[in-house]
Amino acid sequence: MSTYDKTQATHEFTRWSESYDRSILQVLLFGPSHRAIIKRIKAEYGDQPIRVLDIGCGTGVFASRIREALPNAQVWGIDLVRGMLTKGVERWKRHADGICAIQADSERLPFGWGAFDVVTCANSFHHYPHQDLAVEEMRRVLKPGGRLMLVDGYRDRPYGWLIYDVCVAGIEGAVHHASAARFRELFGAAGFEQMTQKVHPGFAPFLLNEAIAPSLARTIPAPHFAEVSSRSTSKSV
Ligand SMILES: C[S@@+](CC[C@H](N)C(=O)[O-])C[C@H]1O[C@@H](n2cnc3c(N)ncnc32)[C@H](O)[C@@H]1O
Repeated sequence: MSTYDKTQATHEFTRWSESYDRSILQVLLFGPSHRAIIKRIKAEYGDQPIRVLDIGCGTGVFASRIREALPNAQVWGIDLVRGMLTKGVERWKRHADGICAIQADSERLPFGWGAFDVVTCANSFHHYPHQDLAVEEMRRVLKPGGRLMLVDGYRDRPYGWLIYDVCVAGIEGAVHHASAARFRELFGAAGFEQMTQKVHPGFAPFLLNEAIAPSLARTIPAPHFAEVSSRSTSKSV
């Protein structure tokens, strides 16, 4: 089975970067999905000075919308494709005091543990060849109790399947829109808790997956040694 890889993503988005901000998808899918995430961030954090990481930030449309809606938020955007980041240069300049854009891969985030209150990922996840690694990285860079908010095309119903698995995959190649069940599996395996999922219907239906990063005690792996009982310590060796 062929899979979509990072070289294909780089070619696709380097090519698309020229017209990306004028795409009809800005109206049909990207804009509505950005508004849905921003509404949820506002509901949870209000005006607090939070640190947000936007993964697959592209030309920065979403990152700048977050900043405009939440002026106290500091936003980091990462994207695999230099051409997409370069096209957003005017946006990065305009928001230089609140947004920092970095070229990086979702599967190897250039941040330490627990660096962010919120991680967002909008319309990018279906391009990741190793979605499990990306979700683990999202968990790693979130503070305990921090929130992941991830939107991608909803492909479970026949209409969603037609749009994403037939039409979008026909254009983009072997991208993978995860089912709602698969998201639950991936988030659970990475240790996320209190997961919720909301379908936003429409011409381009999307699924907003949300979950909370576990507390530190659950995050730190179990020690690689067994407990020593008093009986075994008294034995001579
Ligand atoms: C459809 S665009 C979405 C851009 C933006 N999040 C939005 O909603 O408007 C998908 C983005 O994901 C990026 N991308 C693809 N694979 C990636 C990866 N492995 N790591 C980081 N970004 C990636 C692409 O370069 C592209 O900018």
